Amino acid sequence: MKGLILSGGKGTRLRPLTYTSAKQLIPVANKPILFYGIEFMRDAGISEIGIIVGDTRAEIMERVGDGSLWGIDIEYIHQAEPLGLAHAVLTAEKFIGDDEFTMYLGDNLLRAGITSIVNEFKKIKPHCMILLTPVSNPSQFGVAELNDDGSVKKLVEKPAEPKSNLALVGVYLFNKKIFEASRKIKPSFRGELEITDAIQQLSDDGHNVHSSIVEGWWKDTGKLDDMLEANRLVLDTLEKKIEGRVDEASKIEGRVIVGPNSRVINSSIRGPVIIGRNAVIENAFVGPYTSIADKCHISDCELEHSIILEESIIRDIPGRLTDSLIGRKAIIEKCDIKPQATRVMLGDSSWVGLG
Ligand code: G1P
Repeated sequence: MKGLILSGGKGTRLRPLTYTSAKQLIPVANKPILFYGIEFMRDAGISEIGIIVGDTRAEIMERVGDGSLWGIDIEYIHQAEPLGLAHAVLTAEKFIGDDEFTMYLGDNLLRAGITSIVNEFKKIKPHCMILLTPVSNPSQFGVAELNDDGSVKKLVEKPAEPKSNLALVGVYLFNKKIFEASRKIKPSFRGELEITDAIQQLSDDGHNVHSSIVEGWWKDTGKLDDMLEANRLVLDTLEKKIEGRVDEASKIEGRVIVGPNSRVINSSIRGPVIIGRNAVIENAFVGPYTSIADKCHISDCELEHSIILEESIIRDIPGRLTDSLIGRKAIIEKCDIKPQATRVMLGDSSWVGLG
C-alpha cells in the first residue's frame, strides 16, 4: 500500500501564523501537523508516500525532505491549481499506479493514528473505506447518510441541510477504481472535483464503500480554540520524559516532557505539558495543556492551556496567560515606561484579548 498526503492550500484561516509558515507546518505539541500524518503512515507500514504540494511547496520540501528522517521514501507531486481532492487524486495517478493507497489530508489529526484502519481495509478489501465522526456543524464537511445496517446510503459535500451529523474525516483508503470514478464526476458548486462525489460515484457504480466511525479527530477550522483542542488531543497521548535539568526548588506534576538542554528553575509545571529543547522556565507556573517550543524563555509569570512557538519570550507579566497561541520570536513582557498602559506591536490579522 502507498500513501498520499495532501499538503497544498494557503491556510488563510490560520493567519497570521500562515503568513510565515505553511499551515501543515504549524506545530501541535511541538511537532508540525504534517509530521503526524507521515508518522501515522510509517507506523501503519506504509513506506512510499507521495505528498501533493502547491504554492507552499518549497517550505514543505525543505522541512520534510526525502523521507530519510523517518526511514521511508517521500516523493513530491505538484498540483498546479487547487482544483479539489479528487483532482489531487488524479494528479497522483502515475505515482500510485495499480497499488492500493491511503489518502490523508495534511491538516487532519487522529489521536489513535491509522494502523487499525489500514489493517481493517486490508482484511475487508473494499474498493474504498471512509472514516466518519459525529460533529456539531456537519454543513462544513462531507456528510454521510447511512442505511440501518450501517452501510453508506448517500454522501454529500457541505450540505445546507445535512441528513446526519456524521462528517467525513480526512483519511480515505482506496484501490485504483477511484481514478475511474474521479474522471466521471463534474466540478461542485465551489468549482472543485470533490472526493465526496467521487466516492458517491464509486457507490453508484456498484462498488463496495465501507465506513468506520472514529473518535478523537481534529481538523483545523482556523479558530484559536481549534488549535488548542488539537494540542489537548495530542498532549493527552504523551508520556512523561525529563531530558533537561529540573532543579530542586521546582515541582513537576503529571505527564510532563522537558526536552534536551532545557532548564526548569524554581518553577511548577503541571502536566500534560511539553517543553522543547534549549528552553528556560524560571520562577514560573506552567499549567495543563501547554506546549512550549524550542528556545523559549518563560520567567516570572504564569501560563496554562496555551501554545508558544519557538524562541518566544514571556517574562514578568501580571495575571495568568491562558487559552493563547503565540507565534515565533514573540515577546510579552512587563513594561515600566510611563504612562502605565498596554502597548502592543502586532502582525497583520492578529488578535488580542485583554482581561
Ligand atoms: C474536505 C472534504 C470534506 C471532509 C473534510 C475533512 O473539506 O471535502 O468532505 O469532510 O475535508 O477534513 P475541505 O477541507 O476541502 O473543506
